[in-house]
Amino acid sequence: MILKNANVLYNDKIDKLDIKIENEKIIKIDSNIEAKKNESVLDYKDKYIIAGGIDPHTHFNIFTNTQSSDDFHSGSIAALHGGTTTVIDHPGFGPKDCALNHQINKYHEYAKQSLCDYALHGVAQHINESTFDEMKSLKQSGIHSFKMYLTYLYRLEDNDVIKLLNYAKELDIIICVHAENHFGIEYLKKIYKERTDLLEPLKHALSRANIFESEAVYRLLSFCEAIKFDKLYLVHMSAKESFDVIRLFKDRGLKFYTETCIQYLFLDDCVYLEDDGYKYILSPPLRKKGNEKYIYQAIKDGLVDTIGTDHCTFSLEQKSIGKTDFSSCPNGTPGVEERIALLFTEFLKGTFTAKEFVDLSSKNAASIFQLKNKGCIDKGIDADIIVIEKGKYYFDKIHSLCGYTCYDKIELQAKITDVFLRGEHVIKDGQCINKKQGIYVNNID
Ligand code: URP
Ligand code: ZN
Repeated sequence: MILKNANVLYNDKIDKLDIKIENEKIIKIDSNIEAKKNESVLDYKDKYIIAGGIDPHTHFNIFTNTQSSDDFHSGSIAALHGGTTTVIDHPGFGPKDCALNHQINKYHEYAKQSLCDYALHGVAQHINESTFDEMKSLKQSGIHSFKMYLTYLYRLEDNDVIKLLNYAKELDIIICVHAENHFGIEYLKKIYKERTDLLEPLKHALSRANIFESEAVYRLLSFCEAIKFDKLYLVHMSAKESFDVIRLFKDRGLKFYTETCIQYLFLDDCVYLEDDGYKYILSPPLRKKGNEKYIYQAIKDGLVDTIGTDHCTFSLEQKSIGKTDFSSCPNGTPGVEERIALLFTEFLKGTFTAKEFVDLSSKNAASIFQLKNKGCIDKGIDADIIVIEKGKYYFDKIHSLCGYTCYDKIELQAKITDVFLRGEHVIKDGQCINKKQGIYVNNID
């Protein structure tokens, strides 16, 4: 198959090129590729072609006192419609004291329904005498990263954080971290509860103050510096103060990875004052207008590696308790379907260079998490490809089963019309025609 005449994002620039696909791979990229007899040719004149997106942070099939709207089936359909061909999912917590492979085995089962390709992060919800060996054996099955939380029920305390970082250093594994100071948040939540009867959505944001994130980031990076660990991955960085800390440690020469998410670039905490403000309740929360400028600056300064979504969805009915009691509202927002169109719109506006767009939306995630043959348009790489039409659009139809988007007011310049997953046409003129199952992507030969 040959995709012809598109403006292709290749080698950090845009050029009019043809792409030849065979046996799931891109085998040739050139200015004019001759088709063989009977070879199928698709003409994408005036369209853009970019690499399939990789979302390094989703939560499909998550249960947090209530079941998420999206499982791997619906979540992956939303992902494909939005041009994300691979997700790296963060499993939820398992039962108390469960072994590390408990959630991995469960999520491999869940992921059998996935229509897009997937990888998994492990979840380190406690540390005991078997943790090191369990991490080692999961690494052999292609799990290259484990997430720890500094808040929520199964948070790790500092002594275990340091233990885990040391294990990861020895095993050459990435530690992803949800960095927020648990007791700071609990203290402010308690004050709001005692002093007011109404726990409306804005108080969610106020109780999860910026400094609780930046304090946790400072602490973690200090531990990494002390033990010389260079594989920490800060998930969903949101607060401008955290980027100050990130800059400080980068200037000191420490190596680590930083992820931000689309919601911190495109939304702000004013939405919590709207009638349906509860639909934006997530952690870390949306920050004040103007905070996003610090994130864009950090991107320009090379301090951000990936832009994910933290896609974690609940229906408006499930979330509506948040109208009067944010502390009982299931946390999370959709985004897996919206991410690429939002980011590509910013590329078209000149906010991102071609290199920044590719690095942040797919290439860095592939290289950090060792997703072999993924992440960019190149010879020998999986033919995960998005076709984009330029124009003026809005998100008027979304596929996440949560039934809403947070980005409906944003004018887009990019519409994803067609998607190829390892060479198979899975979204055609906006319709999902997928016959292919997603596969588990790892770097085991
Ligand atoms: O609010 C969010 N992000 N929910 C998902 C779990 C997490 O904190 O990553
Ligand atoms: Zn998350």
